[in-house]
Amino acid sequence: MFESLADKLKDSKNIVFVTGAGISQKSGIPTFRGKDGLWRKYDAMKLATVDAFYENPKLIWEWYEERRRNIIAAKPNAGHLAIAELEKFKTVHVLTQNIDGLHQRAGSTKVYELHGSIITIKCTWCDFKDAITSSFSELPPICKCKNILRPDAVWFGEPLPQDIWQTAIQQASSCDVMVMVGTSLAVSPANLLPVYAKQNGAILIEVNPEETMMSANVDLSIRSSAARALPELLSVFQRQ
Ligand code: APR
Repeated sequence: MFESLADKLKDSKNIVFVTGAGISQKSGIPTFRGKDGLWRKYDAMKLATVDAFYENPKLIWEWYEERRRNIIAAKPNAGHLAIAELEKFKTVHVLTQNIDGLHQRAGSTKVYELHGSIITIKCTWCDFKDAITSSFSELPPICKCKNILRPDAVWFGEPLPQDIWQTAIQQASSCDVMVMVGTSLAVSPANLLPVYAKQNGAILIEVNPEETMMSANVDLSIRSSAARALPELLSVFQRQ
């Protein structure tokens, strides 16, 4: 799959992965826009916006708690594990749109969660933030300051965590290779990261069974699943 770029990959120093829901699909976590995507069943604007949350916090919490239980039961797949293993050969940064924490559970050490995390919670008022370690007795959960708590996910229309976004731009602008895996690149500003990488001369590789809006601009498109393609990418470095 990667033979045409094998030499350039072996000579590379910094590899950045931009990942989306597709890399977790084989772990049993549905994508948003694919054929069985979440947004086909639910209206994103009714579940993943601040207005939707304040209109019906209990509904949004029930939806997130259902997803969180599913995610906690999920396991990293061969795609996540291959990216983690690649750290033995190269400097690897993972800029993920996923909130499922599977990259970290696979062993990746430099993971930047652009859209937050489903396993952390924060207050809608004070600066309380903590990991969610058990289910809640009531939904929505209430902070000690008496305001409601919310999932620590970035909703449509909200800014990304500034420190994480700045790091993402810096890593995208200084990598030799960027691999976009399992993302439709439909959502900004995450979909700008490949543009920054290309502007700085990086090799762009896309791993996705379907075309994306960046497909025409990449150096190599691998029409395959992450769980099949990423172990093949890893083997390029293992043969070094
Ligand atoms: N391996 C690789 N890619 C896959 C696989 C797989 N096994 N299965 C599906 N895909 C691809 C689909 O073809 C699609 O292009 O993964 C992509 C998933 O795209 P989306 O569902 O749009 O997910 P994502 O790109 O992560 O969405 C970005 O949108 O709703 C918001 O905040 C949410 O972070 C999410 C953001």
